[in-house]
Amino acid sequence: MKIGVIGSGNIGGNLGKHWAKAGHEVLFTSRHPDQLNQLVQEAGGKAKAVSLDEAWEANADVYLLAVPFKAIDELSEHYAGEYKGKVIIDATNPYPKRDGAMAQEVRDGNLNASEYTAMKFGTAKTSKAFNTIYAEHLRDNAFRTSDKMAVPFAAQDEESKQITQQLIEDIGFESVYIGNLKDTHIMDPEQKIYGKSTNRKGLEAMMNK
Ligand SMILES: NC(=O)c1ccc[n+]([C@@H]2O[C@H](COP(=O)([O-])OP(=O)(O)OC[C@H]3O[C@@H](n4cnc5c(N)ncnc54)[C@H](OP(=O)(O)O)[C@@H]3O)[C@@H](O)[C@H]2O)c1
Repeated sequence: MKIGVIGSGNIGGNLGKHWAKAGHEVLFTSRHPDQLNQLVQEAGGKAKAVSLDEAWEANADVYLLAVPFKAIDELSEHYAGEYKGKVIIDATNPYPKRDGAMAQEVRDGNLNASEYTAMKFGTAKTSKAFNTIYAEHLRDNAFRTSDKMAVPFAAQDEESKQITQQLIEDIGFESVYIGNLKDTHIMDPEQKIYGKSTNRKGLEAMMNK
């Protein structure tokens, strides 16, 4: 698959490296793609660094959003039209201290964070994944062959569900489907399964509590 990684820090950088190792074509982006050379080298394979515009123009199969939550407003203002028909995996979390008032408004509002992202980008193919796992655990626990760490995910439609599930499993995590975006409240900061690194059994036990 061709994967556009929007935001190549702790989450996007580690995921992109895993996906490159799994044989995917990875386009790392940030507002400063010239600073991503080391990451591209570490990723090897078919990885490269491109600008945000180039990532869109490359017509990737899927785009990972791994930017600070506040960037969703700015990015969607520029790219909502373009991303409308695309699968977006949203790994972001609203943190008022980092993201300001808009994050607090989303936390206090009626939409889950993933629904906010889907609304802003005007897409019907958004999934939520990789937002509940610490970046270090994501980095250190990929490609396990036994007792795999679980990555919960939710999706808006069948295509985003299939692609997200495959991209979780391709890098050696166990995918656990939560449901539609309306069900993702338990994945949001400070909620039931947020920040919990465990296997499928452990995760399902937490979900059913
Ligand atoms: N760290 C974790 O343990 C963790 C776990 C789960 C989920 N998350 C969530 O994942 C998201 C990313 O977290 P992170 O820790 O990976 O952050 P990070 O290390 O700070 O990386 C953020 C990336 O986004 C880029 N970026 C920032 N503002 C941007 C903008 N307006 N447009 C385009 N790119 C922009 C940054 O590069 P430039 O500044 O060069 O543009 C950088 O590549 C956050 O929403 C966070 O809450 C984090």
